[in-house]
Amino acid sequence: MKLDARLKAVAKFVAQIRGEASTWTHIDIGTDHGHLLKVLFEQSTITKALAVEKNEFPLQRTQKALRAFDAQCYLGDGFAPLEPNAGDSASICGLGASTILQIVQAYPDRLPKRLIFQANKHSEKLRQWGYEQGYHLIDECMVDGFWNYAILLFEQKQGHDPAYASDSFSLKTQFKYGPYLLNRRDALLLQTIESELEHFRGMKAGNMAIVKQISELEQLLNKF
Ligand SMILES: C[S@@+](CC[C@H](N)C(=O)[O-])C[C@H]1O[C@@H](n2cnc3c(N)ncnc32)[C@H](O)[C@@H]1O
Repeated sequence: MKLDARLKAVAKFVAQIRGEASTWTHIDIGTDHGHLLKVLFEQSTITKALAVEKNEFPLQRTQKALRAFDAQCYLGDGFAPLEPNAGDSASICGLGASTILQIVQAYPDRLPKRLIFQANKHSEKLRQWGYEQGYHLIDECMVDGFWNYAILLFEQKQGHDPAYASDSFSLKTQFKYGPYLLNRRDALLLQTIESELEHFRGMKAGNMAIVKQISELEQLLNKF
């Protein structure tokens, strides 16, 4: 089974946080085809999986994909079918940032300590949620696909999140583009910012909000 670059990056983050633990249970919400969990089993990254799907047909596909493994598949909405402490980590991928937020806000006491999110857009909402809810951003990466996707790895920890310590970028900019991606001057992030700038430059001249956006993006690009 081969994963696209997006889910490959998610699988890598699960392996990174599992480390040397002897067993590992991973939850995948909105699992659809079950490919991520199947590869995590094949790579021996996980020993048990919990898959949740809101729709019947994808749930059946997941059950079929995972029948050879120690996996429980649930029909349901987000964490609703799961108990607290059901897993060591969870992923929610391929959904809008607002939907991911609704899912995590519905059952905050059922979230595992480690979370991996991949939203199609507006990852700033997820970084801000983590910052406010005690989920530190441990790492992030960007991969290309239909869009350039940001994949975020969080871990529940005490205290202030040290990921946002940069003096070079405002907190708002770090939420929007990602503190690790900015500090690394990530090549795909650079491409994303350049396309945003092109987009605004192509819009009607004279609108002050657009002029401001263009100026902010130009200032940001000067730091790359
Ligand atoms: C676009 S697919 C993404 C599949 C896979 N996670 C990936 O990244 O390739 C989104 C899947 O999430 C499911 N889904 C959407 N909202 C959900 C929710 N609240 N709870 C569980 N599943 C959900 C949909 O039925 C669909 O199968």
